[in-house]
Amino acid sequence: MSEMTSQDGATVYDWGTSPDEMPSLNASVLHAIAGQVNAELRASHQYLAMAAFCEQRKYPGAARWLKHQSMEERKHALKLLEFVLARNAPVELEEMPAPTVEFKDIADVFVGALLQEQQTSAQINDLCELAFASKAFSEMAALQWFLTEQVEEEQTARRWVSRFQRVGNDAGALLDLDRELATRSSSD
Ligand SMILES: [Fe+2]
Ligand SMILES: [Fe+2]
Repeated sequence: MSEMTSQDGATVYDWGTSPDEMPSLNASVLHAIAGQVNAELRASHQYLAMAAFCEQRKYPGAARWLKHQSMEERKHALKLLEFVLARNAPVELEEMPAPTVEFKDIADVFVGALLQEQQTSAQINDLCELAFASKAFSEMAALQWFLTEQVEEEQTARRWVSRFQRVGNDAGALLDLDRELATRSSSD
């Protein structure tokens, strides 16, 4: 930036380039975060398929819980999308692969949910590692929320997996768990 004096004597600044020509800071980190938008959407899609499986097998509580989870993942995708756009970087939405629709039983659905959360945690860790190595401080701050969120997501999924494993095929206990899953509010 250099200072210049205009004809009327006022000081004006020459910034050297127009904002549109300036490359986004940390372009590679933002590109990777834009990739995570797609990963969160895939997770949302998978949870919806799990909800449909449970609904078909007459577990409305589990179906409701999984639908909420699907909406949460969509919110995560939007949060990341808005962040990348706020940083003036592009987001490319990819084609959505078909989700897994076959599960052994309801317990298997929750094992799948836990595996998916663990995979997401690994993805967020990789993003943090990249942001850290790139000294992308704003990106690190934005990813902090997702690190904390993943601890909670994994813990919740792990609890349901162990509860389903404990009750096995006991029909009454399975109905109790389903009833409990139905109590999830939209903010949980
Ligand atoms: Fe997520
Ligand atoms: Fe999640």
